[in-house]
Amino acid sequence: KKTIQPSPGPSHGYDPNFTDQVIAATGPNAHRRLAQVMPSLVRHLHDFAREVNLTVSEWKAAVDFINAAGQMSNDKRNETQLVCDILGLESLVDEISSKILQEDASPGSIASTPSAILGPFYRKDAPVLPNGSSIVAPETKEAFSKDLTYFSGRVLDNKGDPIPDAVIDIWHTAPNGMYEQQDPDQPEFNLRGRFRTDTSGRYSLYCLRPAPYPVPDDGPGGLLLKLLDRHPWRPAHIHVIIIANGFRPLTTQLFDKGDKYLKNDTVFAAKEGLEVDFIARPENEDGNWTLTYDFVLSPA
Ligand code: BEZ
Ligand code: FE
Repeated sequence: KKTIQPSPGPSHGYDPNFTDQVIAATGPNAHRRLAQVMPSLVRHLHDFAREVNLTVSEWKAAVDFINAAGQMSNDKRNETQLVCDILGLESLVDEISSKILQEDASPGSIASTPSAILGPFYRKDAPVLPNGSSIVAPETKEAFSKDLTYFSGRVLDNKGDPIPDAVIDIWHTAPNGMYEQQDPDQPEFNLRGRFRTDTSGRYSLYCLRPAPYPVPDDGPGGLLLKLLDRHPWRPAHIHVIIIANGFRPLTTQLFDKGDKYLKNDTVFAAKEGLEVDFIARPENEDGNWTLTYDFVLSPA
């Protein structure tokens, strides 16, 4: 009697040759960078599935989760990016890029300002405003007068020399914890503005002292946080992007030093080098707080 042998088709499951077969399916004309990074991604994905004994229903739940995040993403809400943030991926990628920058720094130079993640609420085309003006909508200024902050400083190079004509793009939440695009009660582009440094590299504006806020937790990102028994809070922060000719663009955030979520940021973005003090302002001056910060840019 003949015994029936299993067919010698592709190997599967726990056989590491299966992973090699998937990687080897890449063709000679594949996109260069993809051909470089995909073998590692496939290897890690397969190893992960083997390590946790991933079941078909768990894999399907993950596919549904990614689809739901994608369907919820639009120009007002980037749920997929939020999920990456909750998993620390945006912060890790930011850290990897800034490590490359630090390795470039020449000895004796002033350290560049650390970067921090962009987050999903950036909007380009914020109004360009003159120095000394306010990003607080006039109709809300009264209600938030206790938070009004005079924010100023310089943009410098690694030698400490001023960078004129740098564009500094600033955005933060209202004290109710919402960015203007999340909140129908805030006017378009509230608490957002772009300023240009003067010949001494100086910028100045009025904003609000921010409050800690929860990341949106009514979608897949929030579900993940709940299932992992995690809180949704970010420490109070102001977002900043600085663009200047001849320098590397800087995306960062300034964090209120007294905030209780500084060591416990749900998206792992807060850094010691970016903590700032809000100083009480003399009574005869406009605003309740002063925030002073000099940014240092790396050469391009
Ligand atoms: C933010 O700071 O705007 C943010 C960052 C990551 C996730 C959600 C919000
Ligand atoms: Fe934010």
